[in-house]
Amino acid sequence: MSATKPDTLLFFVNGKKVEEENADPETMLLSYLRDKLRLWRRGCGACTVMVSRYQPSTKTILHFSATACLLPICLLHGAAVTTVEGIGSTKTRLHPVQERIAKANGSQCGFCTPGMVMSMYTLLRNQPQPSMEDIREALAGNLCRCTGYRPIIDGYKTFCEEANCCQLNGNCCKNGETVTDAVGLNGVQDKPQLFDKGEFQPLDPTQELIFPPELILMAERRTCPETLSFCGERMNLLCPGSLEELLELKTKHPEAPLLMGNTHLGPNIKFKGVVHSLLISPVRVQEMFEITHTPKGVWVGAGCSLSELMTSLQKLISENPPEHSELFRALVKQLKNLGSQQIRNLASLGGHIMSVYPNSDLNPVLSAGNCKVSLASSSERRELPLNQEFFVSFGKTLVRPEEIVLSVFIPFTSKGELVCALRHAPRKESAFSTVTCGMQVLFCEGFPVVRDISLFYGGVGATTVKAAKTCQALINKEWSEPVLSQAYDVLLEELVLPPSAPGGKVQFRRGWISCEVPEKLLPLPSDIQPSVQVFQSVSNAQSSHDAVGRPIMHKAALSQATGEAVYCDDLPPTQGELYLALVTSSRAYANIKQLDVSAALQMPGVVDVITSKDIPGKKVRTEFGYDEDILAQTQVLCVGQMVCAVVADTKAHAKRGAAAVRIQYEDLPDPIFTIEEAIEKSSYYEPRRKLERGNVTEAFKSVDHIYEGGIRLGGQEHFYMETQSTLVVPVGEEREFHLYVSTQAPTFIQETVAETLSIPSNKVVCRVKRLGGGFGGKTTKTALLTSIAAVAAWKTNRAVRCVLERGEDMLITGGRHPVLAKYKVGFMNNGKIVAADLQYYANAGFAVDESLVIVEKILVQVDNAYNIPHLRGFGAACRTNLPANTAFRGFGVPQSLLVVENMITDVAMALRMPVDKVQELNMYRGPSLSYHKMEFNPENLHLCWDECKRRCQYDARRRAVEQFNKQNQWKKRGMAIVPMRYGIGFCEGVLNQAAALVHIYKDGSVLVAHAGVEMGQGVHTKMQQVASRELHIPISKIYISETSTGTVPNTCPSAASFGTDANGMAVKEACQILFQRLKPVMEKDPKGSWESWVNTAFFDKISLSATGYYRGPDTYMNWEQMEGRPYSYFTYGVAFSEVELDCLTGDYRTLRTDIVMDIGRSINPSVDIGQVRLTFSLLLQSRYNKTCLMTPFAGRGCVYAGGGLVHSGRAEFGPSGVLYTRGPSQYKIPAVCDMPLSFNVYLLPDTENPLVIYSSKGIGEPCLFLGSVVFFAIKDAVSAARSDSGLSGPFSLDSPATTERACLAAASDLLRK
Ligand SMILES: Cc1cc2nc3c(=O)[nH]c(=O)nc-3n(C[C@H](O)[C@H](O)[C@H](O)COP(=O)(O)OP(=O)(O)OC[C@H]3O[C@@H](n4cnc5c(N)ncnc54)[C@H](O)[C@@H]3O)c2cc1C
Ligand code: FES
Repeated sequence: MSATKPDTLLFFVNGKKVEEENADPETMLLSYLRDKLRLWRRGCGACTVMVSRYQPSTKTILHFSATACLLPICLLHGAAVTTVEGIGSTKTRLHPVQERIAKANGSQCGFCTPGMVMSMYTLLRNQPQPSMEDIREALAGNLCRCTGYRPIIDGYKTFCEEANCCQLNGNCCKNGETVTDAVGLNGVQDKPQLFDKGEFQPLDPTQELIFPPELILMAERRTCPETLSFCGERMNLLCPGSLEELLELKTKHPEAPLLMGNTHLGPNIKFKGVVHSLLISPVRVQEMFEITHTPKGVWVGAGCSLSELMTSLQKLISENPPEHSELFRALVKQLKNLGSQQIRNLASLGGHIMSVYPNSDLNPVLSAGNCKVSLASSSERRELPLNQEFFVSFGKTLVRPEEIVLSVFIPFTSKGELVCALRHAPRKESAFSTVTCGMQVLFCEGFPVVRDISLFYGGVGATTVKAAKTCQALINKEWSEPVLSQAYDVLLEELVLPPSAPGGKVQFRRGWISCEVPEKLLPLPSDIQPSVQVFQSVSNAQSSHDAVGRPIMHKAALSQATGEAVYCDDLPPTQGELYLALVTSSRAYANIKQLDVSAALQMPGVVDVITSKDIPGKKVRTEFGYDEDILAQTQVLCVGQMVCAVVADTKAHAKRGAAAVRIQYEDLPDPIFTIEEAIEKSSYYEPRRKLERGNVTEAFKSVDHIYEGGIRLGGQEHFYMETQSTLVVPVGEEREFHLYVSTQAPTFIQETVAETLSIPSNKVVCRVKRLGGGFGGKTTKTALLTSIAAVAAWKTNRAVRCVLERGEDMLITGGRHPVLAKYKVGFMNNGKIVAADLQYYANAGFAVDESLVIVEKILVQVDNAYNIPHLRGFGAACRTNLPANTAFRGFGVPQSLLVVENMITDVAMALRMPVDKVQELNMYRGPSLSYHKMEFNPENLHLCWDECKRRCQYDARRRAVEQFNKQNQWKKRGMAIVPMRYGIGFCEGVLNQAAALVHIYKDGSVLVAHAGVEMGQGVHTKMQQVASRELHIPISKIYISETSTGTVPNTCPSAASFGTDANGMAVKEACQILFQRLKPVMEKDPKGSWESWVNTAFFDKISLSATGYYRGPDTYMNWEQMEGRPYSYFTYGVAFSEVELDCLTGDYRTLRTDIVMDIGRSINPSVDIGQVRLTFSLLLQSRYNKTCLMTPFAGRGCVYAGGGLVHSGRAEFGPSGVLYTRGPSQYKIPAVCDMPLSFNVYLLPDTENPLVIYSSKGIGEPCLFLGSVVFFAIKDAVSAARSDSGLSGPFSLDSPATTERACLAAASDLLRK
């Protein structure tokens, strides 16, 4: 093989021919697009491209979406690839798919947008008139962290409307607003819309790129050599052109895996470091893709993708009587929820079977359905049934190494046969199953008596397993409740799950196995309902130039939708640039005995290894008196701590170099992982804080009831779509450094780097164009990472780039603090709470980071909307040996408020009172003092509360929920409403300041620079609006290029929801200064234009550049006196949600959410409503958060360390402190299927906030806590289920309410078996 010359790979990208002579089988399309073709590159569904292939047999072109990160370029020979840049651009013509997502405000940080665009584009290429279900399915595999998906759906549903609209009276019946919905707060019709559908260009399929004729000719003539060969640095690939060649090669190289979709092999190579010196790909072998129909069933080629399999089965279902297609329907049901469309388009049927996943969705059904495989080798053809014998053990089947699976036989069913398929997964779509099941029953003719039964399970053992004894127990028995109940007992004995079974969740899985009663598992609602957004329109008197208050599209939305927007890693490499890969600790608490980098230095491409000794300046970062090593010096304090870094010429070389570094550790005793362990050992960061109003101890003596409870709140991953990214470029002769960083805190990064390199700040410029999401996680951690890259750049005098992989990012950077809270509450018979004592313990991790201020923020928010006369809060940051947690949007407030709300719910449950009545009874009323003695008026909170109840028709809905629950045994509905009072601004007064610099150029164009960083929250758009009002010019004349410490120095981080408030005032001041300077010129020439006035001013020697500065409020907290004014003002809001819970699976749907917000006078309702939805959804994501994923057969099981925040899996680390949730497969942020089916947002009109620019209010963080309303609605539904089982009163449900927690708490009889 090595002697033969590799073949030239030929494919097309965006209509242009690409010929690659050195195609490496390890190169994925994603990195090729980026590194070679300089096209965008994103992860997690955002890398979706469209692949098109000509099929000579049918003379048709097949278009399918694919994730470029899993697609080896070598498999693209003869294919055409279309990326987001290929379908339209801002410079030529926008494609309607790009235009609609941008104008519908479906692009915030924009990082996911190209992927969304390409999934939708591919759908429209195949189906120009899609249904809503088609759109939902097409977008199921695309993750977005910012928008909550609703605006994307709203924008794209216009494609179905175009196709299906009734156009009655020139209006669309699917507009999404009923008359009642559109009635505003003051009874006036709420007219303004966030976007105008009338502006959209129609979809014109004739305008699309054509498939390259050269590829058609190539396919028709089969001009390629018999076997194509590609040689890489470590792996070679052979692509035979015929079955004979394939079988010969497999005989010669039995150990070589077959490369089909690469969805199993690829992750193993990338994440597990598996290396195969040779791969063989049958993608060019015709026989692997043939579908042959026989009277008994269908033979499906093993190479067919799962999507092709699904299409073929659907066709067979439509062509055959229902009794013949039972098995086909069961398979289609599983296929619909298997992975995402992009994965199903790549993954092959043969690859799926041969990957032998223990929790495979298909194998149990194929087995139960009596399917078989046809195997071929150069010496033999044989058939094997897909039965228990076929699936030998973990990763093993009866297929011999020299054999291949040629095709799979799927039989018709006959009359009397029933086939069922079930799967339970932490999320309905795009999530591997926890338990799967396939069952085929043959009934005696005319009787419900079982003649034969086949029952297979996935997720309960090392491979697909047959429940043989259970089947035996059912044969010749009547299919009845008592018989089934006995069979479940046999099943539980037969499928034993030891406590340490891989995948964890043993109790739940056991319960679920025994309750799989298909007829009880009814689908949850999934139809996306119309939603409304209500906001106040600007008055007619406002100048058309004045952009303030208008729902203006995010300024970068169009470039984000066309892939033109530039993120840190999109910056082109400079000459000699190096790539940095980190080496992290594998021990939780140990001394470093030896650090051996010699092997790494010998690896190809490696230039240097950077250790702590190389740091020329300060080797630690000091926060609140605690030091954190930039690179570990002598000791490691958690798994994932950064120890050293390897720099090399390419990313792959740097990573291989990092893997070659050897570290010898000496473990230290008794690492601390849990909050309980920290409490036991008094392991805290000091000071611990306390706040008290009244006399709590005394007050407890006079109450009617005392209840003691508590709740655990899980941690949360930031999961910003753009991982931590940094590029350090040494410039100039005096060792200056330019930093291009994805950070929310440019000045902090500048200062940390200067300190680390021991150079003054004036030699370091930090520049930020935009972030693909930040959520608080791109401040302290980014500073460490950039400092390490800066040391490497300093040492090598070359530019150094570091972009963390998702898994590394999750391992190293920490997240939201898990909290253990305990409370004691004293209340009267009528529900009035008299005294409460709350204790919060946060798991801070191995470094203090921002934990102390987060704990303080938890405490100052404890009273939320409630006036509890005697209230005490205590907070402690626990020091543990886990990665250090850090700032996360909401900065502790969601944890704080969720605990209080849980306490209120417990009081209501204890008294059997409606929760809303207890809430109302205890709310602040009239001018009030918070428990830290800050005055405020909660009037707007009450307006929000009343309006929310009115909008959701609270009382009628409650009655309907009760009625539903009476009628349904296994499904329950629940609802909740929560109030929120959120303090805006930094508690440390010094951070409440901002500056801006505004230039007017001679042509009249205006350049604004300010301290805020654009991360999707639209701060640049709002600043343009401010400048537009102050300069009296249209927004189109104003531009914001970037945030740079070289332009606006000493900036405060973009955080605390204060960005618009502070920067807006600074921009306003700078613009006012300039306008005042221009005023005399304007008065002299009233008929002149903006451009002529500017030009005249220049000739009159008037300065056209000005700075603005804002000195914000002097906020403070005096902890000794337990009082202070830690905020500038409060933003208020109320949220309502109704959910439907499947008590047997724990799965749920949010049927409806209504949010009413008081955000003063919105500067940009479109951006603000986007922020409301984002922050609400951000908390929802935690449903699946930090789910424990135990290593197979892990000895000691997992250590609880907190879980997701509202409804997610537990954040469990391995017994040695290893985080197992390191990617989208384990950590599930919400997908399209998770958004509320109806999601309504109303902005309270006519509210004023004299403290802030144009009377607006901060909105970035407040709504986060409101996401917890879904948790309380689930709890309400669980409570209804419990009362059916005779259980009442408070009960414990930790947050996140994972499917298994909700299910177990619902305590159904079946689950209690
Ligand atoms: C993001 C993601 C989500 C997923 N979600 C799910 C899910 O929800 N449920 C689920 O069940 N699965 C899921 N999967 C797994 C997926 O179904 C399998 O990875 C896929 O079917 C494997 O097919 P492939 O063609 O990509 O195999 P490859 O990765 O190309 O090959 C896998 C293995 O099969 C062997 N092989 C391939 N073809 C043949 C053949 N014809 N004869 C003999 N050996 C062969 C190869 O040698 C190799 O060992 C998911 C995977 C990913 C990446
Ligand atoms: S806009 Fe979707 S991830 Fe930011």
